[in-house]
Amino acid sequence: MVGAAFPTVTQRVEFMTTLEDQLNQLCAEAEAAIAAANGLPELEQIKGRFLGRKGRLAALMEQLKTVSKEDKPRVGQLANKVKQALTNALTAKRDGLESAAASPEHELDISLPGRRHRLGHRHPLTQICERTVAIFRRLGFAVVDGPEVEDEWYCFDALNTPADHPARDTQDTLYVDLPPHPQHGRYLLRTHTSPVQVRVMQQQSPPIRIVAPGRVFRRDTPDATHSPTFHQIEGLYVDKNVTLADLKGTVEFFFKELLDPDVKVRFRPHFFPYTEPSFEIDLSTAYFRARGKEWIELAGCGMVDPNVFKAVGYPDDAYTGWAFGFGIDRLAMIMYGITDIRLFTENDVKFLEQF
Ligand code: DAH
Repeated sequence: MVGAAFPTVTQRVEFMTTLEDQLNQLCAEAEAAIAAANGLPELEQIKGRFLGRKGRLAALMEQLKTVSKEDKPRVGQLANKVKQALTNALTAKRDGLESAAASPEHELDISLPGRRHRLGHRHPLTQICERTVAIFRRLGFAVVDGPEVEDEWYCFDALNTPADHPARDTQDTLYVDLPPHPQHGRYLLRTHTSPVQVRVMQQQSPPIRIVAPGRVFRRDTPDATHSPTFHQIEGLYVDKNVTLADLKGTVEFFFKELLDPDVKVRFRPHFFPYTEPSFEIDLSTAYFRARGKEWIELAGCGMVDPNVFKAVGYPDDAYTGWAFGFGIDRLAMIMYGITDIRLFTENDVKFLEQF
């Protein structure tokens, strides 16, 4: 009998079943409730309802008194087993809920407004490089690649730059700590894209029309206008009877296409070991004139020096050609009015988003 109070409807039903059945029934119900619990407060309620001092298991234990002597040990054991099983299930469920609460998913606040996925785009240097390449492709130039780790022969000797030239100084060039090439001297990080000219000419005979964009390295301390690594584009055109007029026409066409049709291009005599004659290319645009700067020096170019043809094994006097090279980072700084070259490699999204 369950206490003195008049039995409820469920209790009356319970009277009609054996205590063992009721214990099993309670165990199943409690396990289902524990499994379905949605949070720690609900779990505490369930615990109270089934295992509390005034809970349903306690009520059934009361009835043990009414069980016959011979049944008592068996039913008592079952009651203990049910209690143990439910205690274990509660502990496991509590652990599960607690670790779910600590996991990051749980911090999801579904009432927050959604975050937009930002659409990425190409780096400004990549954009300029691609535009440059597209213009030269229209003129029949192919795009080629060369290694960033070069040796002294490709980077200097073949380009008519003798061993005592200051460019080869360890002050300016980053040498690679490797045993030197038996014929080509020390390995180094290329200081310009010009060695690609040599590699292409070695591999094919004229006509050659190529552009070679790529990364170059110099032993510079980074500041607003210097970086130990930046990018260049090299151009090379070699055939029979290629003239300086071809060079001027092509370069002018290129800058008008890339920048604006009113850009003025000036060739100023200069010196490079691998071209003769050599020039520096200066640009003048309305944008810069308005800012008090008449000419901006941008690129180097010239007619390929016969010593370069000799180095790659072309027959004497068979071909003429021109070459040019300029810095993509420098061009980007000029085009966009950027005053610090380091911005290109810092990956600051606020900067990159502007392009
Ligand atoms: N290599 C030169 C530099 O790094 C640029 C250059 C000048 C490339 C004249 C050329 C050239 O092909 O003909 O500054």
